[in-house]
Amino acid sequence: MRHARIGYCHWGADEVRAVLAGWTGRAADAPERLNAAIAGLGYGDVHLVNRGKTGLSLALDVMKAQAPGRTKVLVPAYCCPAVPRAVRDAGLEPLAVRVGDDLNLDIEALPAAVGADVLAIVAVHMYGAPLDVDAVTAIARPHGIRVIDDAAHVLGDDLGTRGDFGLLSFNQSKTLAGGAPNGGGALLVNAPELRDATRAAWQAMPRAPLRRRHHAWFLYAYALDPFPRRLPSYATRLVRPVAQWCEARDDSHSHMSETAAAAVLSQIPKLPAIRASRARIMGWYADAVAKPMWLPQYVPGAYRTRMIVAWDGGRTSREVRSAMLDAGISVRTPYPAWSDEAASLLGDRFVRQIELPCDPRLREADVRAIVDTLSRIIG
Ligand SMILES: Cc1ncc(COP(=O)(O)O)c(C=O)c1O
Repeated sequence: MRHARIGYCHWGADEVRAVLAGWTGRAADAPERLNAAIAGLGYGDVHLVNRGKTGLSLALDVMKAQAPGRTKVLVPAYCCPAVPRAVRDAGLEPLAVRVGDDLNLDIEALPAAVGADVLAIVAVHMYGAPLDVDAVTAIARPHGIRVIDDAAHVLGDDLGTRGDFGLLSFNQSKTLAGGAPNGGGALLVNAPELRDATRAAWQAMPRAPLRRRHHAWFLYAYALDPFPRRLPSYATRLVRPVAQWCEARDDSHSHMSETAAAAVLSQIPKLPAIRASRARIMGWYADAVAKPMWLPQYVPGAYRTRMIVAWDGGRTSREVRSAMLDAGISVRTPYPAWSDEAASLLGDRFVRQIELPCDPRLREADVRAIVDTLSRIIG
């Protein structure tokens, strides 16, 4: 193994064909077909949007209109910054709640956080590790608090089907990816009394603009550029400004684009294989990892979207990242803390934690080599 990459997605010829069909106007029915395919996987009342964050905004707007006196939303202290951003964009205040060792909301911390001014709890299945949403709902209900079953990271295991709303994402490094930054997402309405208002709000959203540059970026950066530090530095310097222009953050709200829907649709048949391959590779990691390293989310045979490894003592993930890249191994550092309150709840828990590659092309010997390299680097 000369290089190991983080598997942002599993794109090949099918996805490239789907993107080209979207670009040339031959995928007009893709959103409708994707909607049916998602419903076929067991999800109800599906609303396709340009990204998961838009689905979250839609849900927050609907809930806010029904309970205008409630201004706070409980969010896990460890979370993708897009979640608290959606809360703030809706004119609400995100409050951080402690997380447990599995990186999910610590349910025992909820009773102290709920109150009459709380509108909703964002119940995230971090990297696909299931959170007990029914237990969250049991705490929320008596206080009139809504629950969003945020399964942005994962497709399967019934995640997203509980609570008042469910959320799926197909943006960049999720279980299935339709591109970035508008790779798509779905808001699921699980509470029947919220259906009419949500449908009306969704219908009022604009159609997705055709943004070829986003897919051009995604094709290059996430799907086609296979190896870390492969380009010579002058080429990287030339490419970077173009890449930054293409990648520009996009907080617009719209329906899911035909191109992204076509790309996700082409991946739906591969979902069982994608899940099985990650679970298998994670088993190899579990066999290879030894103290001081440990796997905070690992359960034998279970699917997780990301392979997270933590270690006690030694170098920090920021220091480790650079050395791993030099060794030809992509890694990702944890999300930054999204508020001072979140930072103080997290303490130094995420200082020694990193995501390792879980690309389907990895073999068992590659996994052992990655773990050996990490072990040497953390010291
Ligand atoms: C838990 C969670 N919810 C929602 C989102 C928003 O999804 P998107 O990136 O599709 O906007 C993210 C983003 O990664 C996320 O991690």
